[in-house]
Amino acid sequence: MSATLTTVSYIGAIILFVLSLGGLSNPETSRRGNWFGIIGMTIAVLATIFGSRLVEIPGGHEEWKLVMPGGLVFIIAAMAVGGTVGIIAARVVKMTQMPELVAIMHSLVGLAACTIGYASFIDTSIQFVGAEHVIHVTEIYIGVLIGAVTFSGSVIAFGKLSGKIGGKPMLLPGRHFINLTGLVLVLYFGYAFVTADSIQTATLPLIIMTVSALLFGIHMVMAIGGADMPVVVSMLNSYSGWAAAATGFMLSNDLLIVVGALVGSSGAILSYIMCKAMNRHFLSVIAGGFGTGGGAVAKKSGDAGPVGEVTPISAQETAELLKEAKSVIIVPGYGMAVAQAQHTVYEITKVLREMGKNVRFGIHPVAGRMPGHMNVLLAEAKVPYDIVMEMDELNDDFPDTDVSMVIGANDIVNPAAQEDPTSPIAGMPVLEVWKAKTSVVMKRSMASGYAGVDNPLFYKENNRMLFGDAKKMLDEVLAALKA
Ligand code: TAP
Repeated sequence: MSATLTTVSYIGAIILFVLSLGGLSNPETSRRGNWFGIIGMTIAVLATIFGSRLVEIPGGHEEWKLVMPGGLVFIIAAMAVGGTVGIIAARVVKMTQMPELVAIMHSLVGLAACTIGYASFIDTSIQFVGAEHVIHVTEIYIGVLIGAVTFSGSVIAFGKLSGKIGGKPMLLPGRHFINLTGLVLVLYFGYAFVTADSIQTATLPLIIMTVSALLFGIHMVMAIGGADMPVVVSMLNSYSGWAAAATGFMLSNDLLIVVGALVGSSGAILSYIMCKAMNRHFLSVIAGGFGTGGGAVAKKSGDAGPVGEVTPISAQETAELLKEAKSVIIVPGYGMAVAQAQHTVYEITKVLREMGKNVRFGIHPVAGRMPGHMNVLLAEAKVPYDIVMEMDELNDDFPDTDVSMVIGANDIVNPAAQEDPTSPIAGMPVLEVWKAKTSVVMKRSMASGYAGVDNPLFYKENNRMLFGDAKKMLDEVLAALKA
């Protein structure tokens, strides 16, 4: 493939990636967005394998060369192995395990950045002099640094999300000092690496920095509690983008630089949105210490926790309540995903709409266990997009709503976030389901949600608890509605 065709293919792929990101921002266009991404990536991979790239040759000149003159068989073999593992992983993973899969995938991007950094470092065929040498080794140093932090941080995030490592934040004494020492080490050895005059003298600084960066990644994520893990995954997603961009610089691959920057910046924007949705400051997330079972963190909301009686309700009574209601807002959460109740939810929605009721869905930005979790499930069940609203769009409508139906959600409907300044989730924006005439919460027990805090909603006078597995309960409600 000629140099011009490679460039044109790269530009086409970049445009498709931008269109893909645009499409993914809305459920109605997300399928199209996915297709743009798939086509863009196919073009990018083919153009990279069969294309040419600008390479430096001894003497400070540059020349267009075929990327893979003779090693195609290795590339195809590697892609076959990687592709097969990817397909199997994507097929067997449950929707609720998606964040873990994403975390471990990010670790691979970090690992790739590290290994490519080392490969570029030991590549003796390129002799650089002066400023070019400084730029090249700086790219290597930064690439390996970001890659190592992303790799070890993502492995720990995977361990925490999959329950292999406890969600409790690990707070070492003087942890901020440890991090600061790590930063000083990285800067010091960075200088030693860039000014080294031979591979031999540069190796030790690079290895020390890599070990420091790996330890920093472990320490950073270990200090972050379970409740902040979604932000961490999105932050590591951003890091993996910057690691890819750094790799692009090392390989002089413009496409990788642009794609890495797209991933890096979109991950950073998502982290910001999630921090806002959870009322957390980004820096305090990174500093760690908040989350399930954290030493100093109060488990209960308030000193004594919520008080009062809970009022149970049966599926039959819930159906009666729904039959009498004119307007209903359904708030799904993690429990709906676990119970796989989305199809029954939609069946109930259809029946209620046929009865002339106004039924809408309220989606919290961090409902479930991954961004867009609820939207994906509702789309899978074919719930029309126009009745699926975001929290901000319908939070003011609860006072005019007859029944709010909470299906396996807990933290995202916890009034303690607004009413109790001592609550660990104080200030987190929540769906104000308790403002409806009656709220019905469907869950199996009085257990707390992801953040590990009690929920005063359950004890409110106008609240009813429908205890049981969400799918089973909703099947019973549906049967009673149809009867
Ligand atoms: P949670 O607060 O975790 O509450 C889910 C509730 O579902 C639990 O209290 C559980 O109660 C119930 N449940 C579990 N299985 C069920 C089943 N089969 N049938 C019925 N109920 C069931 O979930 P949420 O309200 O969706 O809030 C999300 C939380 O996860 C937030 O704290 C958020 O920060 C965090 N988080 C979010 C993400 C993203 S990006 N969305 C990622 C990781 C963490 P029982 O055990 O009593 O049934």
